[in-house]
Amino acid sequence: MLEIRSFRRAESLEEAWELNQKKTNRVIGGMLWLKMSHGRCGTAIDLSGLGLDRIEEDDEAFRIGCMATLRQLETHPALNAYSCGAVRDAVKSIVGVQFRNLATVGGSVWGRFGFSDVLTVFTALGASVELYKRGILPIEEFAALPYDRDLLVRIIVPKCGAGKAGFAALSVRNSATDFPVLTVAAGYFHGTCPGIRVAVGARPQKAVLLEDPEGILKDGVTAESAAAYGAWAAEQVPVGSNLRGSADYRKHLTEVLVRRALLKAASAGDAWKTDNTNIGRAETAAVKPDSDPAAAKSDSAGGADAPGVVTFELNGRTVRREISADLLLIDMVREEGALSVKRGCETSNCGLCTVLLDDLPVLSCSVLAARAAGRKVTTLEGMQEEAAEFGAFIADQGAEQCGFCNPGFMMNAMALFREEPDPSEEKIKAYLAGNLCRCSGYEGQLRGIQDYLAWKKRKEGTH
Ligand SMILES: Cc1cc2nc3c(=O)[nH]c(=O)nc-3n(C[C@H](O)[C@H](O)[C@H](O)COP(=O)(O)OP(=O)(O)OC[C@H]3O[C@@H](n4cnc5c(N)ncnc54)[C@H](O)[C@@H]3O)c2cc1C
Ligand code: FES
Ligand code: FES
Repeated sequence: MLEIRSFRRAESLEEAWELNQKKTNRVIGGMLWLKMSHGRCGTAIDLSGLGLDRIEEDDEAFRIGCMATLRQLETHPALNAYSCGAVRDAVKSIVGVQFRNLATVGGSVWGRFGFSDVLTVFTALGASVELYKRGILPIEEFAALPYDRDLLVRIIVPKCGAGKAGFAALSVRNSATDFPVLTVAAGYFHGTCPGIRVAVGARPQKAVLLEDPEGILKDGVTAESAAAYGAWAAEQVPVGSNLRGSADYRKHLTEVLVRRALLKAASAGDAWKTDNTNIGRAETAAVKPDSDPAAAKSDSAGGADAPGVVTFELNGRTVRREISADLLLIDMVREEGALSVKRGCETSNCGLCTVLLDDLPVLSCSVLAARAAGRKVTTLEGMQEEAAEFGAFIADQGAEQCGFCNPGFMMNAMALFREEPDPSEEKIKAYLAGNLCRCSGYEGQLRGIQDYLAWKKRKEGTH
């Protein structure tokens, strides 16, 4: 794990930029990738007090602050309506909900990772990147730049005349939450900005953009023209081998996924053209500002404590204590007596360390304790009554074998019940995908959840 000497919540972008000019300092987004690096960091530069954790919308574009999380992308109604669900589809398999509540758009795009689902979908959407010093540039130009010491401030997704574009994002993974073997996203634009944008990523290098220089799609996207374009794309896109797939396999996937993504984007665009009467700005405006977890995060991230001191609420009790800059939330809550919170993988994969931070499930092994300043942390100790009721249904199914995964699984399941009191089976599986269990086949846990929810409905007289 990265050793961090000091933590600084920047008060302005200029301050953050100046701090970032020192080579040993690091901007921290969600810290999930950074945490995996070894070595020393002088100052961890935190941008979470700058109001950059919002997705804003006007007639021209969506402006996504660098500290918005992947989960905000996934659940934003208007952005997903505009992108025909492509943004949600692109991020929904990235580890688990607790992970996506932490990983930021800024860190994901800045990283320009070869495996990135995020870079792929934003490339197809025709997004631009706003850098603090360099200004605004198309994302494909940004992707080709060498790493420097600038700051990524926002991602801008232009609206191509409402009702005039269709999008799709597809990927192939060897298992549900693994890194992708290949990602493809397609944008099919009608009207004022006609054309197509197809991005192919996880090749395993970073996403490349394809357009249609040979006019294969000039008469529209049909089963034949999409197949011809897929075959052409497979010849154009350089692919390689790694442990997730061979170059040959990736070439084949390029042909298939490009064809499918194009057909999906074209039909999504047509459906949008016909159906889109009321989705867009009005829907965004309907989201109450105080229900926006990002807004809550900004407001409460005040950090009025002296450096090295943090005040936060743990299970309803106010805690004020000294911390080192690289103390993790998991260690802080355990030192404060919340021993239900346990370590499993420490690589942000298993979900065992799940706690609620301002009521959202997060991986406490991947959050700096300093980031809990002014916030509310809830562990199993703070949810005893609900946990006892729910746990009885899990035990009844014999779903708890060694029991090691149980605290993280219970926390995340209870977070789901708060977000969605009556989830479908598909929603339950998707929400709990980031909680690994090495003993069970997950079926007992699923039955336990369903029985518990049915019991709760009966108890509340809704059934
Ligand atoms: C186990 C694991 C599995 C993953 N699986 C996938 C996957 O399947 N698909 C996928 O697309 N991604 C995947 N990712 C990547 C993940 O989604 C994030 O993209 C990644 O964690 C970076 O986001 P972050 O907010 O954690 O950034 P951090 O780790 O905080 O930062 C990453 C880099 O960006 C820099 N940085 C952060 N914000 C800024 C900014 N505003 N300006 C300038 N520099 C900045 C940091 O200094 C650092 O160099 C995975 C990551 C992990 C750890
Ligand atoms: S995800 Fe935190 S310990 Fe595994
Ligand atoms: S019951 Fe043993 S890891 Fe889940």
